[in-house]
Amino acid sequence: MLVLQLPSIKAKVDREMGDARALIQSRLIPKGEGVVRHLALPKESKSLDWILEEMARMDHEGSSHTDYLDGKLSGAVYHGGEDMEKVIVSAFQHYCVSNPLHPDVFPAVRKMEAEVVAMCLRMYNNPEGAGVTTSGGTESIIMSVKTHRDWARAVKGITEPEMVVSASAHAAFDKASAYLKIKLHTIPVDPKTRQVNLKRVARAVNVNTIMIVGSAINFPDGCQDDIISLGKLAKRKNIGLHVDCCLGSFIMPFLGKAGFKFEPFDFTVEGVTSISCDTHKYGFAPKGSSVLMYRSKELRQHQYYINPAWTGKFCRP
Ligand SMILES: Cc1ncc(COP(=O)(O)O)c(C=O)c1O
Repeated sequence: MLVLQLPSIKAKVDREMGDARALIQSRLIPKGEGVVRHLALPKESKSLDWILEEMARMDHEGSSHTDYLDGKLSGAVYHGGEDMEKVIVSAFQHYCVSNPLHPDVFPAVRKMEAEVVAMCLRMYNNPEGAGVTTSGGTESIIMSVKTHRDWARAVKGITEPEMVVSASAHAAFDKASAYLKIKLHTIPVDPKTRQVNLKRVARAVNVNTIMIVGSAINFPDGCQDDIISLGKLAKRKNIGLHVDCCLGSFIMPFLGKAGFKFEPFDFTVEGVTSISCDTHKYGFAPKGSSVLMYRSKELRQHQYYINPAWTGKFCRP
């Protein structure tokens, strides 16, 4: 690190960082004469044709967007094929003005959400469990951490919560720790297996630990942690174990049926208390849609926020 302070090295690093920044900006922000910016509301309304033409033009303004259909783009687009596209567009058309916040007005939306949760609970072998839908993997993870924090406070009296995650776990856990004020212990992975180092996880667990985390599979290298051993530890210490299946979503539960060998990762593993599964990844739903599952309704109860005194409650007839 001291080497980086040497004037000649520092100048070289600064130059290269500047080049990299310029390259990223040129890719992200179209520039040039042909680029049109719409920064104020138009004075007159625009036709649908105008809007569609403008979208098509913008797609190719500056440099055209990456062609994801050639299959060389990882972790950005989950494309279920043209048939699925038709289903998504038709469903959007049918429900585009619905508001899931008002199940009394749109009972079918609530019913469908509950059905999607029920399907996922069956896929992950916990049909009697509980779940919720969220806007994506990050929200599912933040909600799981919030639930375990409030559970630990109510059941174990923990007021200075901590959690233990693998270095390969998704950054959403870092975000949850910052948002929810939870001390984070980040444990390195084994260089060969890429699984979190179990001895170091066990050492980091203490009386303030609310939960530990495993991935099936993780984002950085697609590997799965040893969920069985993490489950044993969680059970022994009476703490939560969240398994992040955001990416594994609709692939992990079908590995066995497809004839692949796999290590258990779902609610069949004792000690697993919650699982996130992204319907908007290999469930091929549009962004943002995810399901967060809990082992029990009692645990899910700690996710809810209830304020019966809010004035808005009285506004509706
Ligand atoms: C393993 C894993 N967990 C969580 C997330 C976060 O999901 P989202 O981008 O939907 O917030 C991702 C996203 O790629 C992921 O791969």
